[in-house]
Amino acid sequence: MPGVFQLPPAEIAEEAKRAHALGLQGVLLFGIPTEKDERASSAYAENGVVQEAVRAVKAKCPDVVVITDVCLCEYMSHGHCGVTRVDGDHFHVLNDETIELLVQTALSHAVAGADLVAPSDMMDGRIGAIREALDAQGFNQTGIMSYAAKFASVFYGPFRDAAESPPQFGDRRSYQMDPANAAEALREVALDIDEGADIVMVKPALPYLDILWRVRERFGKPTAAYHVSGEYATIKAAAEKGWIDERSAVLEIMTSLKRAGADLIVTYWAKELAEWTRE
Ligand code: PBG
Ligand code: ZN
Repeated sequence: MPGVFQLPPAEIAEEAKRAHALGLQGVLLFGIPTEKDERASSAYAENGVVQEAVRAVKAKCPDVVVITDVCLCEYMSHGHCGVTRVDGDHFHVLNDETIELLVQTALSHAVAGADLVAPSDMMDGRIGAIREALDAQGFNQTGIMSYAAKFASVFYGPFRDAAESPPQFGDRRSYQMDPANAAEALREVALDIDEGADIVMVKPALPYLDILWRVRERFGKPTAAYHVSGEYATIKAAAEKGWIDERSAVLEIMTSLKRAGADLIVTYWAKELAEWTRE
């Protein structure tokens, strides 16, 4: 999509520097490895692409808050967020085996210098396990931004193409949430806070403003909204066709996210927004 690129670690550092100069406080890093396998080995490799990028950003501009996405799907040959077992025409994602690999991944990011790790897999109990492991290794100052209410959404489509991680079989509905179920979203957020999340996130953003509002009101925790790739795509495409004014649309959407309670917004428009709000 326009404005979306895969960048090597050295260029990420340059990009982070530009972002910081524009007034942005942080970056969220995702990795695309050269090798994928069924253990997501590149996700927790000491010299994995995210680990290298974290070091590069921290060396170049230590003031940028570096957040790392912690998941296995980009590193798995099958594209699922966890370890899978296939029997017959069914497959299962193995919750607890997955957590072990997520913990290793989060730790390797902390070792590289990440300020916050952001688990996006939606396994049960991973926030507690990651918190415990970080503390045990002396990383008690490394925070956790939890993808707490992450719905199974069609709006992740462009991301999966960009990150080369669409599932090779099945879908993500056994671990991501049912868009119709608001009560489950609140339970998931409560669990993550209980397990030690510092920031809770609602994702996608605009179709789930009601959830964002309720999470912020009920828990009073720092709350993030992730305006995802498909949300970006819809406005971008309409703007390219001349059907909508991009800048006005984006400013209205972002204002709505703030109004609904977002303390923090993850968006592909961050750099443009920083400029537009300054103007
Ligand atoms: C990985 C992950 C995804 C996104 C963020 N982390 C994809 C997915 O869960 O399918 C989506 C981001 C976006 O659409 O911008 N688990
Ligand atoms: Zn994933």
